[in-house]
Amino acid sequence: MSLSIVIGSQWGDEGKGRIVDLLSSQSDFVARFSGGDNAGHTVTVGDQVFKLHTIPSGIVHKHTIAILGGGMVINPFTFLDEVQQLKEAGVDTSPNRLLISHAAHLITPAHRLLDQAQDAARGKQAIGTTGRGIGPAYVDKAARRGIRARDILDPASFPQKVSACYETINRSLVQLFGQNPINVEEMSAEFITVANKLAPHICDCGALLRGALTDGSSVLAEGAQGTLLDIDHGTYPFVTSSCTTAPGVLSGLGLGIRTVDRVIGVTKAFQTRVGSGPFPTELEGEAANHLRGSGANPWDEFGTTTGRPRRVGWLDAVLLRYAIEVNGITELCITKADVLSGLASLEIASAYDLNGEQIKSLPFGPESGDLEAAAPICEELPGWNEDISQIKTWAELPRQAQGYIETIEALSGVPVKMISVGPERSQYISR
Ligand code: IMP
Repeated sequence: MSLSIVIGSQWGDEGKGRIVDLLSSQSDFVARFSGGDNAGHTVTVGDQVFKLHTIPSGIVHKHTIAILGGGMVINPFTFLDEVQQLKEAGVDTSPNRLLISHAAHLITPAHRLLDQAQDAARGKQAIGTTGRGIGPAYVDKAARRGIRARDILDPASFPQKVSACYETINRSLVQLFGQNPINVEEMSAEFITVANKLAPHICDCGALLRGALTDGSSVLAEGAQGTLLDIDHGTYPFVTSSCTTAPGVLSGLGLGIRTVDRVIGVTKAFQTRVGSGPFPTELEGEAANHLRGSGANPWDEFGTTTGRPRRVGWLDAVLLRYAIEVNGITELCITKADVLSGLASLEIASAYDLNGEQIKSLPFGPESGDLEAAAPICEELPGWNEDISQIKTWAELPRQAQGYIETIEALSGVPVKMISVGPERSQYISR
């Protein structure tokens, strides 16, 4: 039995794709457990680079079976678009290796419209959602009026469920947000036609995975977003609407608590965030421009899903320790260490000053009010000038880069097992 979990320890965009790619090459199943097409994973197949938002990126390995778990919200349009992209790249997307849990909920275009209207109406308090309808789809799930993948399989009741959903959203759009009504009949009919194409992929993925684990297969759970965007444990209310942390793997995939083997926390060598919300170590000016990049490279700090420039700052070890605790992280993978080359000195927040008191953890976790008031207390470390992007071993790293990684280990109490130093598959150091 072997379940490995890859989790982002920050606000998403940690570069989880690299470790997912490596681990899925050794896994039988690759599974997404929460979220939807708000995620963005850059995937390379041969010399083709494209972006997946919904389908687990481990599908690009020929031997894997890809699962979209019951904790997810799935946009059928995005799903089919990705299927098409994968097919064109020669990836097998047949229903025997690409499966959707019967329990996953569906996102309709109406959910997207509502998401965008709601966030716009928040004005200065806007969350800066991806506008993909994630929040409204999870609201419908919690309100027990959501549309589930299994509903597609019942042609007698599916159309009625879809129009009921559209009608409810229509009322909100018109009455709360003063928008023109949507054409429920037309939009429902189009949605039903598209959603029906998902039918061959739908099954009881929980039962499948439980059986597979009992039979000795290996499962990789691909985290999306990051710990600090978790609906319960993140910087509420500036979070997404799902459980992005390791416990969400169990409920999102329908697995028992004793199945977990490894929890790998992927941590960018500095901190980034898209959307609004507190960010104690946020930087502006020259160092920020250095960390963000110009946007000329696809891996510069601009959102994969929205193209928005990401906010950047120094690594925050207070938040990292918290992420390690709530996820039960057993090892760290540090990404984008190469980006730090050329900075004369580096900082890592090891504690906060909150109302004149020095603290190493926040009284109520990273709740947004406390985090806003927290001033980071940083350790300064020497930088390095060498380009480390071609380095393959720990011994070859400049002493200052080793020192930076060792400081992360000392501040977090967890070993760093992997360091990525560039966007290519081969650009990493294993320890
Ligand atoms: P939503 O998930 O679209 O509702 O957006 C809620 C918040 O989570 C916003 O700040 C988004 O920018 C952020 N968010 C959602 N998905 C991702 C992701 O994959 N990476 C980084 N931020 C994300």
